[in-house]
Amino acid sequence: MSAIGVIGGTGVYDPSIFENIHEESLTTPYGDIDYVQGTYKGKTVIFVARHGRGHSIPPHKINYRANIWGLKKLGVTFIISTTAVGSLNESFKPGHFVLTDQFLDFTKNRITTFYEGGDRPVAHLDVTNPYCPELRSAIESAAKELELPIHNGGTYVCTEGPRFETPAEIKMFHMLGGDTVGMTNVPEVNLANEAEIAYATISMITNYAAGISTTALTHGEVVEMMGQMAEQLKSLILKTIEA
Ligand code: HPA
Repeated sequence: MSAIGVIGGTGVYDPSIFENIHEESLTTPYGDIDYVQGTYKGKTVIFVARHGRGHSIPPHKINYRANIWGLKKLGVTFIISTTAVGSLNESFKPGHFVLTDQFLDFTKNRITTFYEGGDRPVAHLDVTNPYCPELRSAIESAAKELELPIHNGGTYVCTEGPRFETPAEIKMFHMLGGDTVGMTNVPEVNLANEAEIAYATISMITNYAAGISTTALTHGEVVEMMGQMAEQLKSLILKTIEA
């Protein structure tokens, strides 16, 4: 049986948008995961809160391998993930959604692969299209139907966190072609690709990045904007699953 995976990022912890929900946990070779299984319009949905319930797991401590391995084991063939991001691109405004199509990896201390040698063959993942184009188009169509402001395409810069960036870092990322900045898409997207699960991420722009914004950035500001966008995001996820 195939299922749709939803990985909820900052501000997205509530699986009650789905029907027939029940909480479960699963032991994986990488550790245990908690998830919620439910349905929507007859389709099976598996929901994982990336930061744990109550946002207790920081980006660099997330067990990305357990989450993706678990979703694969549960029969997930598509993952829609959500991320809160800062914007480096003037036309990507707070309150807009972005369907990332490329990433720049500035993480430092994460295990980024299932292939660590030993009894597994060495593998080099092709990441020409890390974010599934068909899934992105489906999300874009759903957003257009709902009349939500969305950009299909954009380069996500993944930092190690948990701190926000310096204005000098943001200037550099902008020079390198970054459009958005967040802390979680790498290695999640790579692991999903290794597991042969179609993956797309809906980024919510919560703020202009450090130095572009005229004021200092706070987590509270990010969470507040997420709160404002939460209803739209829920509708977007449900409309995409329905299609
Ligand atoms: N930087 C990194 N991560 C973020 C930001 C940001 O400006 N906003 C939301 N998540």
